[in-house]
Amino acid sequence: MEALSPEDFLKRLSDHREAFWEKMTAERKSYGAEKPLSPEIILRRLQFGVVMERKAAEVSAPWVPHLPELELQHCLSEYVANELKHASILRKRIAELNGDPDVLWKNPLAELKQLWDFHAALGSFCELFASVQYGHEEFFPRTSKSFIERVEPIDPQTASIYRDTLLADEAGHEWLAPEILKRYATNAGTQARCLEALQTGCELFGRAIQSFNRTMPA
Ligand SMILES: [Fe+2]
Ligand SMILES: [Fe+2]
Repeated sequence: MEALSPEDFLKRLSDHREAFWEKMTAERKSYGAEKPLSPEIILRRLQFGVVMERKAAEVSAPWVPHLPELELQHCLSEYVANELKHASILRKRIAELNGDPDVLWKNPLAELKQLWDFHAALGSFCELFASVQYGHEEFFPRTSKSFIERVEPIDPQTASIYRDTLLADEAGHEWLAPEILKRYATNAGTQARCLEALQTGCELFGRAIQSFNRTMPA
């Protein structure tokens, strides 16, 4: 395969991501992702969030010294700090609701562990960015929107954490993944590995979400 132009390459990645999103959205109701919220379900959702935020930071941090540009190193460091901040905000909210902030962190679902082990083992920052930040992290604002709407009437404080902090920060770092991929995933081999990473990452993410919903308290 010849190297694609940066625009065509990003389109190839986002086409795959969007096709996966369509498939996942069609299946979400079948495994109860949209069922009415109870205090236990809200708590579990926050506990899942702790793992997602903290792991996004942990798998990204080791790549800071590998980015060739100081400016991007700074932005990636801010991204890492933001995700850790989100994890600690969620942990605090769980404690206020009398839950165990680290229950899923200490005993992750097998599928959740597979997702993050995969990301920790990727061989380049381009593959990581294709799969995490340009891949399933793009779904976060979408699934959060539905969660915020449902949680608002029951627990406005949790709704506000998602809307005013987590999503607000998310919007501030969405540009980083396409920028890094455009600059550095320029040869055919890297582009092919990025696409493969995104495909596997979406697949593992879908399985983790499904397993999370299936193990939800009734
Ligand atoms: Fe976050
Ligand atoms: Fe994020």
